[in-house]
Amino acid sequence: MAKLINGKQISAQLLEQVSVQVQQLKDNHGVTPGLAVVLVGEDPASQVYVRNKIHSAAEAGIRSVEHRLSADTSQAALDELIDKLNRDSEIHGILVQLPLPAHLNEDDVIAAIDPLKDVDGFHPLNSGALAAGQSGLVPCTPLGCMIMLQQTHGDLSGMTAVVIGRSNIVGKPMAALLLQANCTVTIAHSRTRDLADVCRQADIVIAAVGRAQLVTEDWIMPGATVIDVGINAIELDGRRKLVGDVDFNSVEPIAGAITPVPGGVGPMTIACLMKNTLSAARMQLSIPD
Ligand code: GUN
Repeated sequence: MAKLINGKQISAQLLEQVSVQVQQLKDNHGVTPGLAVVLVGEDPASQVYVRNKIHSAAEAGIRSVEHRLSADTSQAALDELIDKLNRDSEIHGILVQLPLPAHLNEDDVIAAIDPLKDVDGFHPLNSGALAAGQSGLVPCTPLGCMIMLQQTHGDLSGMTAVVIGRSNIVGKPMAALLLQANCTVTIAHSRTRDLADVCRQADIVIAAVGRAQLVTEDWIMPGATVIDVGINAIELDGRRKLVGDVDFNSVEPIAGAITPVPGGVGPMTIACLMKNTLSAARMQLSIPD
């Protein structure tokens, strides 16, 4: 039976550490970190994520401001809001919830955010810094996965890791972080040949494809660590249920350690957003970590 990597517990500890440091920033520098969360349209999943982010900000002592825009908001109107937030000295972090409605250009929106306020770590300056092994703001989900892996294993040096998925939000930055931690990294995706065989070679499997229960027991080397980034809604016995990209029930008996869904990666992502907002505030005030 695998060790359960408890994202709920680890994220609560991280959030507690962040809230202590937020309080220190207030006491020593008179500054409250401010986070602007922008939601365009009414995507139900995005609404839940944004609500959770606002809730966690309050828990960490971070001031959050929510901007809800209608689904038909123009690129110019969104650019104007981002420009205003970039110039607002009380806002240290800007998050535009993705996906955006199809008529908006996500790349342009991300590029418009001040890289110092880019708490998602999606701006090309931050993703470039990560690829080059330089410091910068790091995307929250991969950062949360790394914290869980380091708590589970300590040093990851020399381990083999397969990341399934090549998105800019998870797959690519995840691979860069694993490489920085001296893992031997493979990025697999929908066109990878013999995907199950490739995964079965890995000490660490990160599933980030968005396909419900794709990864089954025959994909996993006995004793491997499995991190499940997926959140997929499925119908089971007439009920709606959230499941990951990993078939938990079949994989859990043979894995060495595994994250559950829910209660694994999800809460870590949100705690890392608060960590990044604190880091962004410190960077803007030139206060070292
Ligand atoms: N949509 C899904 N994940 C994310 C994320 O980490 N940040 C933003 N802004 N949107 C998302």
